[in-house]
Amino acid sequence: MDLGLKGKFALVTGGSLGIGHAAALALAAEGCRVAIAARGKEALEQAAAKIGRAAQAEVLAVQADCTKPEEVRRMVGKVHERFGRIDVLVNSIGSAKSGNFLQLTEEHWRESLELKLFGIVRCCREVVPHMQRHRWGRIVNVIGHRGRQPETQAMPAGVANAGLINFTKALADEDVRDGILVNGVSPCPM
Ligand SMILES: NC(=O)c1ccc[n+]([C@@H]2O[C@H](COP(=O)([O-])OP(=O)(O)OC[C@H]3O[C@@H](n4cnc5c(N)ncnc54)[C@H](OP(=O)(O)O)[C@@H]3O)[C@@H](O)[C@H]2O)c1
Repeated sequence: MDLGLKGKFALVTGGSLGIGHAAALALAAEGCRVAIAARGKEALEQAAAKIGRAAQAEVLAVQADCTKPEEVRRMVGKVHERFGRIDVLVNSIGSAKSGNFLQLTEEHWRESLELKLFGIVRCCREVVPHMQRHRWGRIVNVIGHRGRQPETQAMPAGVANAGLINFTKALADEDVRDGILVNGVSPCPM
């Protein structure tokens, strides 16, 4: 498939595993130069090697914890320094705590929102100015079906995802005039 992405530069957060890893592989197969980010060094390096072998291209692996604003800033800075631009951002980080409402602590809620909601907001905030400079960009936030379908055992995920649906739509409305298209996708386990 030719999605017209050949030669573009992409950053995939959560690119070491799961959906992010699959997205990074697909972008590399489309001819993008790809950077992947996550916390775990070993999984990151394995994923970068696998994507690199499949696409016969060098993949940049950046260790970063997206719950930390300064690490997100450093991650984006590193990718921009290497690539000179960031055209595509896919955010596919983390997961949220599940469990009974009365068993979920203040900390569980904070951790879930800190990563799933604020982590994605932070990544967008750092990358959008680079896209605005080139008046072109594509952002895909991997959200989740609980944003529209609340479930008693998955309240933090549902709340984070509902916030992300709202954020993604508002960012899309704001950035379209700069040539930046922002979309959300909501996977659902079968
Ligand atoms: N899979 C599904 O069926 C499904 C359904 C609904 C929604 N979703 C959403 O889709 C997204 C991806 O899901 P997935 O199943 O592909 O997840 P996954 O396989 O668990 O992968 C998560 C990725 O995020 C990274 N990550 C976790 N915490 C991080 C942090 N603090 N900073 C930076 N990176 C971090 C992980 O690496 P490290 O742990 O090494 O950092 C890993 O690369 C998640 O937001 C999830 O809520 C998935």
